[in-house]
Amino acid sequence: MRVYDIIMRKRDGLELDGDEISFLVDGFVAGEIPDYQMAAFLMAVYFRGMTARETGDLTMSMAGSGDIVDLSCLPGRKVDKHSTGGVGDKTSLVLGPMVASAGIPVPKMSGRGLGHTGGTLDKLESIPGFRVSLSMDEFLSAVRGVGIAIVGQTGRLAPADGKMYALRDVTATVDSIPLIASSIMSKKIAGGAEAIVLDVKFGSGAFMKGYEDAVGLATAMVSIGGSVGRETVAVISCMEQPLGFAVGNALEVAEAVETLSGRGPLDLTELCLTLGSYMLVLGGKAPDPASARAVLEGLLASGKCLEKFIQMVGAQGGDTSVGRDPSFLPRAAVVAPVRADCPGYVLRADALQIGRAAMSLGAGRLTKESPVDRSVGIVLEKKVGDRAEDGEVLAWCHAPDDASGEAAVDMVKRAYAMSPDPPLSHRIVRAIVTGRGVEAL
Ligand code: URA
Repeated sequence: MRVYDIIMRKRDGLELDGDEISFLVDGFVAGEIPDYQMAAFLMAVYFRGMTARETGDLTMSMAGSGDIVDLSCLPGRKVDKHSTGGVGDKTSLVLGPMVASAGIPVPKMSGRGLGHTGGTLDKLESIPGFRVSLSMDEFLSAVRGVGIAIVGQTGRLAPADGKMYALRDVTATVDSIPLIASSIMSKKIAGGAEAIVLDVKFGSGAFMKGYEDAVGLATAMVSIGGSVGRETVAVISCMEQPLGFAVGNALEVAEAVETLSGRGPLDLTELCLTLGSYMLVLGGKAPDPASARAVLEGLLASGKCLEKFIQMVGAQGGDTSVGRDPSFLPRAAVVAPVRADCPGYVLRADALQIGRAAMSLGAGRLTKESPVDRSVGIVLEKKVGDRAEDGEVLAWCHAPDDASGEAAVDMVKRAYAMSPDPPLSHRIVRAIVTGRGVEAL
């Protein structure tokens, strides 16, 4: 087999077989295939696409390029969740304890934030003492004892993906549905998932800007899951405005605690209940999403979900007082208001611009090496559809000092658009994609 022929076949739009794909992936990870040949292959995929079968084979080759986590010591079918990321996206902090309290084991490997998108590990690390680096034994024994643990992904999971992504990043080949879908699914499969629930977001603050693109990506991932024996369901959700009110690490932990107490923002609660319902169904804990939702609503109201969060924090060395009183979280020195300069209804609270404002305060990273200030961020008072009077507070900027607070106030002000009339729909969940097709809501 010659790499040259594989590149040529893909360039000419022919379908590759599984042996050709694994030859390419294995050779690349072993350092036998140079970057320039892999880059040419990725560009050929960018233009020619991949069939569902090829995408499944690529996913499994990448998943098999490093360790596959063995979760067989945990009971039941292991269901993982993945979000394509966004602004104010603290779903893992809420959803993990929620489904763990329903008896689904949650051995969750998460990532750090980059750019305007936050990361679960950075949020958890705002809890004093919380450890996200556990050995595999510590990780599995925490899940066995408490039902949930959230840790960082090890470098040995799907190394082919890390290497290929680094090349895609500098060769303009990130935006390819088969490459994105196989990248995400390979990491979930290497993490030991037997079934997967995906939160695929669209909108200004999301990776996929348009609804149709998000549905296309979701459909590709659901199809990969089906073809490799990992039942997959995707929830399509809107990321035109931030999820919930809080954007920024400690601020989001506080909001997650509120949500786990049953007093959270409606959009965040709705999204977590929807994702959680499908996790319960795929995990065999409920016959259908409606009965799963009733179980989760009962658990939220009973305080068991918050209790599970507190147990997880304790098991990972964190200060459990945070679960009862958010004032134990780091707090910013300055809190500056963003005020409306005309009366009206909020038409837009642009997620990307608000995410950038939070990043400018230090809540996010410009590069992988940048430090993160866990105390800072933005808390919205008004979201799309809300009424605000002239001079009323639209949002608060939690800043390290007055100067950066003022700059963030200007940025957040520009993220808002007002209208004399209330906008039409601003629902969070827009569609469900399963192996049977797309159900628009
Ligand atoms: N996220 C991933 O994990 N992989 C991609 O290719 C794009 C987004």
